[in-house]
Amino acid sequence: MTVHFIGAGPGAPDLLTLRARDLIAASPVCLYAGSLIPRAVLAHCPEGARIVNTAPLDLDAIMAEIAAAHEQGLDVARLHSGDLSVWSAMGEQLRRLRMAGIAYTVTPGVPSFAAAAAALGVELTLPGLAQSVVLTRTPGRASPMPGGESLAAFAATGATLALHLSIHRLAETVAELLPHYGTDCPVAVVWRASWPDQRIIRGTLADIEAQVGGTIERTALILVGPVLAQEGFDESRLYAADYDRRFRAGRADAVKP
Ligand SMILES: C[S@@+](CC[C@H](N)C(=O)[O-])C[C@H]1O[C@@H](n2cnc3c(N)ncnc32)[C@H](O)[C@@H]1O
Repeated sequence: MTVHFIGAGPGAPDLLTLRARDLIAASPVCLYAGSLIPRAVLAHCPEGARIVNTAPLDLDAIMAEIAAAHEQGLDVARLHSGDLSVWSAMGEQLRRLRMAGIAYTVTPGVPSFAAAAAALGVELTLPGLAQSVVLTRTPGRASPMPGGESLAAFAATGATLALHLSIHRLAETVAELLPHYGTDCPVAVVWRASWPDQRIIRGTLADIEAQVGGTIERTALILVGPVLAQEGFDESRLYAADYDRRFRAGRADAVKP
């Protein structure tokens, strides 16, 4: 018996990976995390599968579901939104499984920041503007930020920021970022990226609050940084005609197709 942790992607059912689809289809138990998993993804569960929404459960209750499946020798598909490597609460479940000696696998999913960038049609790292993306959040009721991980510290780098779990703190976020990025810095808020009702609001640090106007709650990303303008950047050296690289013919060590 194995628990398969699966990143179910940002929402669009066809952004599920093929591996994820096959594991869901092969698992007689499916535990899924709340409202962000579309019904179409659950439709891959085999007929008669036990399908449980874990949103109202605490960790002990989730582990009890897994233990029950373990006793019956039934594989479990454990679905979380986006990718599992960020804000999935997978870490604490894996720790419990290791203690219980229960086997698990981890299948990555499309993270919401990538879906938001795709919705905007932007590359988040552009030569000369930003070569780093900071995936972060503002503190929550149950999640204080560790010392050193302040927004101001990340903003001081000038990197592109992808702020999760923070749309309800837009005003404080803007105030903290302004001294570092300036009023003209482009900002985009993407709500429910890849869902049919996806919304995109573009603005600058000066006007994004007014543009959003309190109309967006929960499932939104705030992207901040000069790259969002998609101008004023250099072309990458990778494809420059005079750039000597191993994949180009003519070099002694050229990589053969
Ligand atoms: C608990 S975290 C889960 C993150 C997820 N593991 C990932 O890879 O994106 C939930 C936050 O992710 C962001 N998020 C998740 N899905 C989203 C989507 N489809 N569109 C915009 N933001 C999304 C929002 O900031 C939301 O508050």
